[in-house]
Amino acid sequence: MRPRGSEALKAQAAERALQLLQEHPVRLLGLGTGSTAEVFVRRLAEVYHEDALPLEGCVPTSRRTEELARGLGLPLTTLGEHPELDLTVDGADEVDPQLNLLKGGGGAHTREKIVAWASQNYWVIVDESKLVSRLGERHPVPLEVLPFGVRVVERAVQALGGEPRLRLGPDGRPFTTDEGNHVLDCAFPGGVAPSEVEAFGRELSAIPGVVEHGLFPSVAIPGALRVIAAGRDGVRVLLPG
Ligand code: 5RP
Repeated sequence: MRPRGSEALKAQAAERALQLLQEHPVRLLGLGTGSTAEVFVRRLAEVYHEDALPLEGCVPTSRRTEELARGLGLPLTTLGEHPELDLTVDGADEVDPQLNLLKGGGGAHTREKIVAWASQNYWVIVDESKLVSRLGERHPVPLEVLPFGVRVVERAVQALGGEPRLRLGPDGRPFTTDEGNHVLDCAFPGGVAPSEVEAFGRELSAIPGVVEHGLFPSVAIPGALRVIAAGRDGVRVLLPG
């Protein structure tokens, strides 16, 4: 059966990333987390096994992606062995007009940010429903938080005008990240204006107990950023500026 709706668009964004990757082959690749990243990883493995890519090692951004990549026979490595990667391909929950990103819907944003910051190139694959005018418009901002400090962080978020909610897992217990922490999903009514994302991220980082927030300001991403957005009218490759 052919994928429909946004599933088909995710597949188109992933396919374009793969095409670009074949035009610009890399040795060391970061692998994102989430349903769009998963589509990419599955196709990547197919092409890799056709001997069409000179991949030497992939760094997954979560245990979930690690299990997937291992099962598909992709070569794995770590940031310990390779602290600098050629490229990372990941998804996002929201992208604003300045290409600031909101991530963490899968609770993997801390590792995702580390891997992104280790990459010379960073490609984000999304369907057009992820393009918004202000981050936080549709999704809360996730904060990975040390369990010890959850209540204190909640109060600090409320003081910033936010509405924090502890993320729960399918079993109704607090969701636990790969690092053993919890996630506070923080709604900020009205969202965050593109020009304020970087400063607001700094305010969130300054709260003791916050391990990492899900805002990825485009100006702070060290590598070359591309957003590959699939829509009804085709796939666009967006660059900052
Ligand atoms: C996980 C993420 C994902 O990239 C984000 O949630 C997008 O996921 P999906 O492709 O399933 O919509 O940040 O922490």
